[in-house]
Amino acid sequence: MPPKRGFDAALIVGQPGGYDMAHSAVAATAQYNYDIVKKFAVMALVWGVLGMSAGTYIAAELAFPFLNFDIAEITFGRLRPVHTTLVIFGFGGSALFATSYYVVQRTSQARLASDWMANLTFWGWQLSVLVGIIGYMNGITEGKEYAEFPWYVDLVITVTWVFYFLVFVMTLRRRSQPHIYVANWFYLAFILATAILHIFRNLSVPVGLFNTTSYSLYSGVQDAMVQWWYGHNAVGFFLTAAFLGMMYYFVPKQAGRPIYSYRLSIVHFWALSFMYMWVGGHHLHWTALPDWASSLAAAFSILLLLPSWGGMINGIMTLSGAWDKLRSDPIMLFLITALSFYGMSTFEGPMMSLKSVNALSHYTDWTVGHVHSGALGWVAMISFGSFYHLIPRLWETRLYSVRLVYVHFYLATIGIVLYIASMWVSGIGQGLMLRTFDDYGNLAYTFIETVVFMHWPLVVRMIGGMFFVSGILVMVFNVFMTVRNAKLEQAALEAKIAAKLAKAGA
Ligand code: HEM
Ligand code: HEM
Repeated sequence: MPPKRGFDAALIVGQPGGYDMAHSAVAATAQYNYDIVKKFAVMALVWGVLGMSAGTYIAAELAFPFLNFDIAEITFGRLRPVHTTLVIFGFGGSALFATSYYVVQRTSQARLASDWMANLTFWGWQLSVLVGIIGYMNGITEGKEYAEFPWYVDLVITVTWVFYFLVFVMTLRRRSQPHIYVANWFYLAFILATAILHIFRNLSVPVGLFNTTSYSLYSGVQDAMVQWWYGHNAVGFFLTAAFLGMMYYFVPKQAGRPIYSYRLSIVHFWALSFMYMWVGGHHLHWTALPDWASSLAAAFSILLLLPSWGGMINGIMTLSGAWDKLRSDPIMLFLITALSFYGMSTFEGPMMSLKSVNALSHYTDWTVGHVHSGALGWVAMISFGSFYHLIPRLWETRLYSVRLVYVHFYLATIGIVLYIASMWVSGIGQGLMLRTFDDYGNLAYTFIETVVFMHWPLVVRMIGGMFFVSGILVMVFNVFMTVRNAKLEQAALEAKIAAKLAKAGA
């Protein structure tokens, strides 16, 4: 029975969420623009494979430095921003474009407002990532973490983002029922916040029209503060709020149940949006930043635990009454594991924001471990789960192999565990060694001794990366076969119809 209020009302009013799946897929393809969703989804996988392979390669370089081969383009320093840009903006960004365009259409029951504008966002985004990484390998960078793009790419991104905002908001305005589903709130917060962050972080003066260099408008500690106001809100809105939007649509859908508490989703949305803006200073503890500013950041970071866990609990409890799905549905495994890692990294983060803890963790691999429990455990896993739900629906078919989804899940999970555990050993170990004194008050270890100590954990992290990359390769194969089968089915259907028509005509 179709829901009373048009759109995917099952998500909130408590009807088992089968509606979406039960409706005619053929009608959906005609009604919505799925083409753009498909393009972004495919590119997310392409960038994902490249970015995670680059991550594994730089992990190997740290364990075995000879892998730099004295070739400037592939040294750690050049490949590191290639990795972060590919995974955050290439993989994560494309996954967000794909899912947001899908979710806004489905929950508004309206087609995207403009096909050409949506296409423009696709080409603008892909071009920016490509030009960016080619530049980094050749030494062209602004050197600001996660904002390394040179000024001309910044301009392309700005234009792309304006069109993204327009398409999203104009589609919302076309919605055929009064309610704006909460996933769209999260996506919209991400779009707005990213626009503000991008513009203010990148205010700079180019040296010349045909010169790749530009100078930032800020300097000294102000520059550092703007950098981490940008950096942590990139975490908060790009890597968190937006993926929560994904969570709020795909978890209830896959579980076939309404969200646990719609009210909680609204409360944690506003709390999260308000609090993230203040915490950037926790990246600058024990620096020239005034003490009150870093204390304020630490206080807000601790508070942030509450809305973060509100979101996690809301997602996980959506499964209450249907826990058995974890035994039979590997997609659910991805989604719930992602939420668990989200909970874990948002517990670890506030702890690391305490000045005393940060004195140990900062400048060590503990930070890198924290980053990847969020990035691999939360961002990548929720994207994988959502894509396994999305891809068969886009191509109107079934997944090629459910067993391969299990294989992917276990490869990815083993990879994450190896990654995080080894970084705890390496980071906390190094931190402790660097602050150990002997009876005379001298440092007990030299720096190089800490580097020698870190070798084996770095090797284990590299192996963890290999597991994770193998997992996404399995996914790519599964998706490729799914799409291929869909095309074969379609061709067979068309041939059948043509034969029937010919028969009827004869
Ligand atoms: C196969 C999977 C991956 C591997 C092996 C890997 C490996 C690495 C390595 C070796 C670094 C450099 C660490 C250092 O400077 O000491 C790094 C940095 C980083 N990676 Fe990954 N990565 C992977 C996936 C991802 C994903 C999926 C994301 C995001 C969605 C991500 C986000 C980041 C970020 C934000 C940094 C910078 C961390 C910092 O500055 O503390 N990585 N990664
Ligand atoms: C309540 C939530 C969180 C808090 C309070 C928090 C706090 C922190 C702290 C204190 C650091 C270390 C700063 C330093 O010593 O330089 C850090 C680093 C980082 N966190 Fe989190 N974290 C949270 C959640 C997350 C999540 C969910 C992700 C990923 C999806 C994430 C990604 C990162 C990244 C990328 C960095 C490294 C930045 C860099 O140095 O390049 N964090 N976080």
